[in-house]
Amino acid sequence: MRTLISNIGCLAGITADNNVRRGDSLRAMDMLHNAWLLIEDGFIADFSRHETSIPPNADITIDARNAYVLPSWCDSHTHLVFATSREEEFVDKIRGLSYADIAAKGGGILNSAGKLSLASEEELVESATQRLNEVALLGTGAIEIKSGYGLSVEGELKMLRVIQRLKRESKLTIKSTFLGAHAFPPDYKNDHEGYISMLIDELLPVIANEQLADFIDVFCETGFFSPEETERVCLAGIRHGLKPKIHANQLNLSGGVETGVKVGALSVDHLETMDQHAINCLANSATIGTMLPTAAYFLRMNFQPARQLIDANCAIALASDYNPGSSPSGNMNQVVSMACIQLKMLPEEAINAATINGACAMDVQEIVGSIAPGKKANLIITKQIPSLAYLPYAFGSNLIDKVLLEGEIVLP
Ligand code: NIG
Ligand code: FE
Repeated sequence: MRTLISNIGCLAGITADNNVRRGDSLRAMDMLHNAWLLIEDGFIADFSRHETSIPPNADITIDARNAYVLPSWCDSHTHLVFATSREEEFVDKIRGLSYADIAAKGGGILNSAGKLSLASEEELVESATQRLNEVALLGTGAIEIKSGYGLSVEGELKMLRVIQRLKRESKLTIKSTFLGAHAFPPDYKNDHEGYISMLIDELLPVIANEQLADFIDVFCETGFFSPEETERVCLAGIRHGLKPKIHANQLNLSGGVETGVKVGALSVDHLETMDQHAINCLANSATIGTMLPTAAYFLRMNFQPARQLIDANCAIALASDYNPGSSPSGNMNQVVSMACIQLKMLPEEAINAATINGACAMDVQEIVGSIAPGKKANLIITKQIPSLAYLPYAFGSNLIDKVLLEGEIVLP
């Protein structure tokens, strides 16, 4: 089956180089005007190499009407499987409570864990599928999803099995992360050792045996997991074949970045609270710093120091952190806009951070994240826009006309 996208005003994000972008290379973006793109059996087969190239024949033609075509967003950090929303905590925050205050009184992650324990696998698949469809229509074509609201053997396995079903049933490229070390459940509040050995000795062998996760994550934060605890859990994950991707430096200078780099994490995520030591440490590593601007926005925190990270030559990505407590939005268009407006990233930098670098932060850069022959045809066709910069600039408009996943148009 051959599908042609004709009349492309500008094909952007063309590259067969799958290395993570850093420094000046983050703003490099290859584009081709007056282009066409051919899809064969769900994969990009070819595209025009010059402006006068004649489009080939195909079974189906999609007229891009002179708009932009981009690789779909690669959202490398989400908690998309959850049982219920938490808008009551949102109101508590408006009234003055902090994220830490809410967590301390049993809200936050523990609130979501309580709700998740009451939901069936079927219910969780259904609500997560709705969220996946929503973000697909907003242009996301690859996504990482974490466990971490189970906090028990049954709960964590239930979440990971839900993600496994989503992988099988969805057209999005999905990666799964075991985040049992998200918070200490009440029974283990004073028995960290007991909880950590449950994660390492009981859960990890089952997860590895049933191939339920690709990555391991720890919430390295004051009041949650210490750097030493984080390191132990990550090393155990590595022994079971899971690469770490950790929550670091969100609320405090938690030592998470340093720990992540030490264990060779694929990414350290959040980075609202950074100092020069953490920046230098990240800059001299292969670990990707993933920034989650909508979480900083929602929690009214300082935004991530993107310019300092780029200037220091750190590899950075952008993701949504979609979750009910700190970022109840999986809209990557908003993430890209916010990165330009508040983090002062150039549009090309933000788009690369949300596509090819996001793909690198999920280890799927060989199959998605750019326009290149052989990659999945997971694409965004925009509405008619005057320039690429217009995408993040017009932050309130939905500028997506069509989304393709494996070469097929996503229907509402
Ligand atoms: O990435 N920081 C820890 N975990 C999530 C929040 C989870 C929640 O509040 O439910 C985050 O922000
Ligand atoms: Fe998170």
